[in-house]
Amino acid sequence: MTPLEARLDKDAVRDVYEGLAPIYDFWADITEVRARSRALELAAVRDGEAILEVAVGTGLAFIELVRQNPTGTTTGLDLTPAMLARAESRMSAAKLPGNYALSVGDATALPFADASFDLLLNNYMFDLLAERDFATVLAEFRRVLRPGGRLVLVNMAQGEAWQHRLYDGLYQLSPRLMGGCRGVAMAEHVRAAGFSEVSRELTVQVGFPSEVIVATR
Ligand SMILES: C[S@@+](CC[C@H](N)C(=O)[O-])C[C@H]1O[C@@H](n2cnc3c(N)ncnc32)[C@H](O)[C@@H]1O
Repeated sequence: MTPLEARLDKDAVRDVYEGLAPIYDFWADITEVRARSRALELAAVRDGEAILEVAVGTGLAFIELVRQNPTGTTTGLDLTPAMLARAESRMSAAKLPGNYALSVGDATALPFADASFDLLLNNYMFDLLAERDFATVLAEFRRVLRPGGRLVLVNMAQGEAWQHRLYDGLYQLSPRLMGGCRGVAMAEHVRAAGFSEVSRELTVQVGFPSEVIVATR
């Protein structure tokens, strides 16, 4: 099923998340916490790894990655300074042992060398992007992962039941109301980008469908 066309460009996405940053965690708790936790389970962090999270947002998953990887390195990047500022405050308040870095950056051009990471996590970002950009971003993810490295993606899914599709209906009314997210289906794109062992799980929270994709470089 083709996803709805993305109606916010990169500048508009940044603008939306500058505004949503103070209330984002509230939305995330109601609709996304289950899928994010499952993604962290499936990521199966091994302490000592080089980990990258792209689109860290307010740091909800990032803090868990750092907690589970105290002797490794955990790197996070996000397009929106206000979201990143929240992630930085969360990390400073937690005072965790561990080596981490956060910076502003864009998933379409990652500022990292080839084959730098063992694990790449990316939650709720492709559901904001235009479908024509999926291949560019997935090629970047593949480039920075080591051979055998794991990719874990979470996104709003194209729901199978009518109540799941309510959220796409809201997007059609106003993409900003949905924080720019509409349902996507990433497994075939991930395979087409050259990843193997691609698996998909669907989780639903208050009718909001999310898919968790795991794949190997
Ligand atoms: C829905 S939020 C998800 C945040 C976080 N991953 C989470 O699950 O809580 C989407 C995030 O993607 C970021 N984002 C959107 N486009 C991006 C891009 N091209 N590169 C990096 N980050 C991007 C936004 O700034 C925002 O913080």
